[in-house]
Amino acid sequence: MTKHPQVLFKNRLPGETVFIDGFRKTGGYRGLEKALKTMTPAEVRETVKDAGLRGRGGAGFSTGLKWSFFPADQPGPKYLVVNGDEMEPGTYKDRVLLESDPHQVIEGVIIAAYALRVSEAYIFIRFAYERCARNLERAVAEAEAAGFLAGAGGLKIHVHRSAGRYILGEETAQLNGIEGVRPTPRSKPPFPAVKGLFGKPTTVNNVETLACVPHILTGGADWFKGLAQNAGGAGTKLFGLSGHLKTTECFELPVGITLGEVIEIGGGMRGGRPFKACLPGGASTPFLTAAHLDVEMDFDPLSAAGSRFGTAGVTVFEAGTCMVGATLNLLRFFARESCGWCTPCRDGLAMVRWILEEIEEGRGSAELIAMLRDQKRNISGRSFCALAEGAMGPVTGLLEHFEDELEDHVRQGRCPFVKN
Ligand code: NAI
Repeated sequence: MTKHPQVLFKNRLPGETVFIDGFRKTGGYRGLEKALKTMTPAEVRETVKDAGLRGRGGAGFSTGLKWSFFPADQPGPKYLVVNGDEMEPGTYKDRVLLESDPHQVIEGVIIAAYALRVSEAYIFIRFAYERCARNLERAVAEAEAAGFLAGAGGLKIHVHRSAGRYILGEETAQLNGIEGVRPTPRSKPPFPAVKGLFGKPTTVNNVETLACVPHILTGGADWFKGLAQNAGGAGTKLFGLSGHLKTTECFELPVGITLGEVIEIGGGMRGGRPFKACLPGGASTPFLTAAHLDVEMDFDPLSAAGSRFGTAGVTVFEAGTCMVGATLNLLRFFARESCGWCTPCRDGLAMVRWILEEIEEGRGSAELIAMLRDQKRNISGRSFCALAEGAMGPVTGLLEHFEDELEDHVRQGRCPFVKN
């Protein structure tokens, strides 16, 4: 196996956490030092933009562009929110990062706060990630004791534990959650950059996104771009592998690596059964098939292939997996986690789950398949936030690539993959 450059995982040792001494020994806090001593906030923002860093939370929005929208020079309170509410099924890369090397994220937070001229940051962490929350609390205390927060103008960093629902990962619901009100999403625009936490300008960035920032400053924008394996890509990416692979671990790999190479790095298919499909970027991304093994794992190539890079949480399914059942499993999650705020999500996802249950359990019909298509048309693009849109990702893939399996369920009046 080719040894790929390890940037975010360079300190990673299974089961261990690196704190401030170990982190500084391997170059930790040098990016911050460079920013504070030799760069203006505008230069930091520009360098991140030139590096081509795209948000690692799922949407892939340009981080530099997001920072350039931010009214950094406007006086008064402004906030940075770090989204660590990782709850997408099949996505666990932020957990691995925070369990192994939390100071990388803290260094990224301090640099971002300097670049955006904010003096208060909230790290919003998933309810179940208690070890990550404790690591972060310790890292914040160590950074404070070392004078890094004072050096960045007296930055305050709060570690905020989520109340534990999926919707809290949606950035505006998250702002409501921090404010202590019902965490339903807010309408966008206004984007948080204009009106965010406590009504003030706010930037929300993912954990992994911020961890990339110190390395961009020390290595430079061109070095970061050069880490990618494809033209147009930038950086490395944490890929969380799961499903029917031999090795289901989190790997740091170059952006632009092909899907086939990712599967090889995961040791190939468990039990030697052929590859059938995968979710390339978490549960809210449309399935890919064996026809896509050469696709580059990056935002634009995956969109062109009809899916999304999302969080690079790659869940692999072997031949013999019922894709109707797999989709139903995901829809049970999404329908349960709908916050109930808008009708397409609250009622639509429940309806989609019911249709899939009917078909999977042998009560399907051609009308139900037609209804599924209808629901897809009616939900996609019509919900208040991205939750329902994302939930329809696997349904879109099912209808696109596995319609024959839906029809087989109807024809046989049972799940064709269950042996009895
Ligand atoms: P989005 O595309 O609406 O926004 C992405 C980011 O760019 C946001 O921070 C937004 O404020 C900013 N932005 C977009 N347009 C802007 C503009 N014109 N001006 C200023 N800022 C702008 O996507 P969203 O709804 O934030 O995220 C959806 C993604 O979340 C999905 O793609 C999914 O993959 C991912 N996701 C990740 C989960 C996880 O556990 N990591 C869980 C669920 C979803």
